[in-house]
Amino acid sequence: MGGDDGLATLEPDDLPDGLVVADEQGRVVVFNRAAERITGRSAHFAIGVALERALPLEDLDGRRWWQLTDPYGGLAVRSGQPERNLLLPGGREVLVCARYVRERPGGPVRRVVVSLRGTEARRRTERSHAELIATVAHELRSPLTSVKGFTATLLAKWERFNDGQKRVMLETVDADADRVTRLIAELLDISRIDAGRLEIRRQRLDLAAAVRRHVQGKVAAGIPEERFDIRVAAPPAEQWGDPDKIDQVLANLLENAVRHGEGTVTIEVGAAKDVVEAAGSPPRTIEGTAVTVSDQGAGIAEEAMPRVFTRFWRGSKRGGTGLGLYIVKGIVEAHGGVIRISRAEGGGARFRFVLPAGVPDFML
Ligand SMILES: Nc1ncnc2c1ncn2[C@@H]1O[C@H](COP(=O)(O)OP(=O)(O)OP(=O)(O)O)[C@@H](O)[C@H]1O
Ligand SMILES: [Mg+2]
Repeated sequence: MGGDDGLATLEPDDLPDGLVVADEQGRVVVFNRAAERITGRSAHFAIGVALERALPLEDLDGRRWWQLTDPYGGLAVRSGQPERNLLLPGGREVLVCARYVRERPGGPVRRVVVSLRGTEARRRTERSHAELIATVAHELRSPLTSVKGFTATLLAKWERFNDGQKRVMLETVDADADRVTRLIAELLDISRIDAGRLEIRRQRLDLAAAVRRHVQGKVAAGIPEERFDIRVAAPPAEQWGDPDKIDQVLANLLENAVRHGEGTVTIEVGAAKDVVEAAGSPPRTIEGTAVTVSDQGAGIAEEAMPRVFTRFWRGSKRGGTGLGLYIVKGIVEAHGGVIRISRAEGGGARFRFVLPAGVPDFML
């Protein structure tokens, strides 16, 4: 890359993080705009002032951080301070890390470079983790309460129930145990998706055949055949993907269309070439297979559409755990694909995902 692309003139004010630099005397020479925002202090008063006065940080026990860490004194091998949560007067929290710049190893500190970040982003993730745990605990508790209730009742009053009653109770316990198992499997998928560790084992895929197989399964489970309309239009010659994962996607979308939707469920499979525009990245083209699942139910309200793919979102009381579509999106995206929701002609919900034709694993 050439040096003349504008980067050479990068200004401290361009940085998204707070930046404070002190010279070899410990006087502040840089105090960028983000630092002003994060600390609530003005650069005007900070520049030229001693670091410990411009940035009077304290640790959570109220000890003065600059005295504690003593960047200019102390061991000459220290290269800085790892990120810490510190406080400014007035109780403002900041994430601080520092680097001591020396001209040569072991030499005196020439500059102290401090980066500052607000704690809101970390707070937000912490809060969302706490919410996730609360929701998971709640979801697990209701089936387990029923398992515990029925087994305790059976154990305490075994003789008082007839075989039919016992069977009903055991069936409930059995179904609830399945629900817990399924929930845990979904949670494991979610943690893999969130950690970016969802493994995709690509094999040859026949999406049309997979759709037919799923529909047959639904029919075998007692849903009238007339409710399904499969339309296959010249899918690409070769499509690669993880068959088990794609099965999960199809199962979830069909289950939703049957459970939350109404009328005929139309499933279209065909070749696709879609241009995907995501915020913050350049548009890219996905060439492969598109699968569209539409139904004739009430659909999903326009204002709720951006939320359907978030975890635990459910539109009505009839909903399940609200994890299905989150997992579906995670799997499609792990394949490099894209999924979108829209409104079907009759007003029902329409989900369309596109998988890139892909290359087999052994060629990667
Ligand atoms: N075809 C559809 N028609 C109308 N609403 C739908 C449709 N598909 C999904 N929804 C709405 O979106 C919500 C989220 O769907 P999602 O599959 O994520 O969860 P769920 O079906 O409630 O539970 P599960 O985790 O068992 O799949 C549903 O609760 C439902 O309100
Ligand atoms: Mg679902």
